[in-house]
Amino acid sequence: MNNSISNLGNPGENYQKQLLEILKQLCDRPFTLGLLILALLLPKDLNLLKTRLEYSEKGQYFWLQLCSSFLIEAGICFWPPKQANSFKHDHFNSKALVLTLSGEILQTLYKVSRDKFFIYRQDIAKPLDFLFIDGWQIHGIKNVSNEWAFSLHLYALKRPQTQLEIAED
Ligand SMILES: [Fe+2]
Repeated sequence: MNNSISNLGNPGENYQKQLLEILKQLCDRPFTLGLLILALLLPKDLNLLKTRLEYSEKGQYFWLQLCSSFLIEAGICFWPPKQANSFKHDHFNSKALVLTLSGEILQTLYKVSRDKFFIYRQDIAKPLDFLFIDGWQIHGIKNVSNEWAFSLHLYALKRPQTQLEIAED
C-alpha cells in the first residue's frame, strides 16, 4: 500500500458506511449475475470489510484486495455515484482486465504528445462488460452514474505499486 491509499479517512468514512449498507442489501438478495459474483467474492460477514477496505482519496474509490502474487493480482473496486474526476495512471508493464459487476463505469484512454495528454478512446462498461488495459497504457476510470458501481480487476503481472499516478502540472 502506498500513502495515497488509506484504510479510512474523510470523506471515506461517510462513503464506507453508505457502501456497507448497500452491500448488505445487494448481497442478501443478489438479483443479477454480476451481483452474484460480487456476493461470492466478498466475505459472508460484511463487517469484516471495515478493516480490509482501502480508500483512495485521489481516486475517490474503495479497493478490496482479493489475492496478490508475483504473477497475478485481483481486487474489487467500489465506485461512489457521480464521481467528478478520475486520475490518470498506468500500471507499468502489467496488463489488466476489468469486469463490471454492477453499475456503469467510464474508462478514458490517453496518449501523450509534447507533454500533453490527449483522449483517444472512451468506453462505458455496463454489467458483465470487459475492459482490457494494455501495459504502459495511461487511463482513468470513474463512475458517471447515480448508483454505486462495482468492478473486478485482474492484473498480470502484479502491479509494481498499488497506484501509479501520472504527475501533472
Ligand atoms: Fe488502472
